[in-house]
Amino acid sequence: MNSRIAVVPGSFDPPTRGHLDVIRRAARLYDQLHVVVVHNPGKEAMLPIAQRLSLLEQSIAEADIEGSVVVASWSVGLLVDYARDVNAGVLVKGIRSQADVVYEVPMAVVNRDLADVETVFLLPDPSHAMVSSSLVRQVAALGGDVSAYVPPAVARFLHTGGHDL
Ligand code: PNS
Repeated sequence: MNSRIAVVPGSFDPPTRGHLDVIRRAARLYDQLHVVVVHNPGKEAMLPIAQRLSLLEQSIAEADIEGSVVVASWSVGLLVDYARDVNAGVLVKGIRSQADVVYEVPMAVVNRDLADVETVFLLPDPSHAMVSSSLVRQVAALGGDVSAYVPPAVARFLHTGGHDL
């Protein structure tokens, strides 16, 4: 597998400014980046996968990100099967806190065991350290302004009632 091709996986429910920051940094490091919306059966979703995909596509287009970025979704099996399909040798994740390390490290070890895929952790800009999709979902559901935490395309969508989907 090619270590110049990387995958940034996530639930992206919804995409946040923290996600875009990690995508921007990763796009500079790799020749090709696949940003993949993955169905996470452990989490109850706010948005359907197709909606998350469309918001990610719009957000990445509007963020003027340097590099080759493909947006896709994956809901039929292991993430490493997607990585194999596109010949990606690296998974990229953002790490904000100790809690993220505890959550991510076992997945990284399993993914390496399963398919010899390495996981690379990036530190997001500290201004995004407190932003999470779950907080955004909560604030949006209660009618709050989330525009400081999400890309403009997501803010437009949520502020026009999209969170009621
Ligand atoms: O944004 P999230 O919810 O933290 O992303 C977690 C995600 C979707 C990347 C993770 O749950 C995942 O990789 N799921 C794919 C299923 C899989 O391959 N599981 C086995 C190895 S971890």
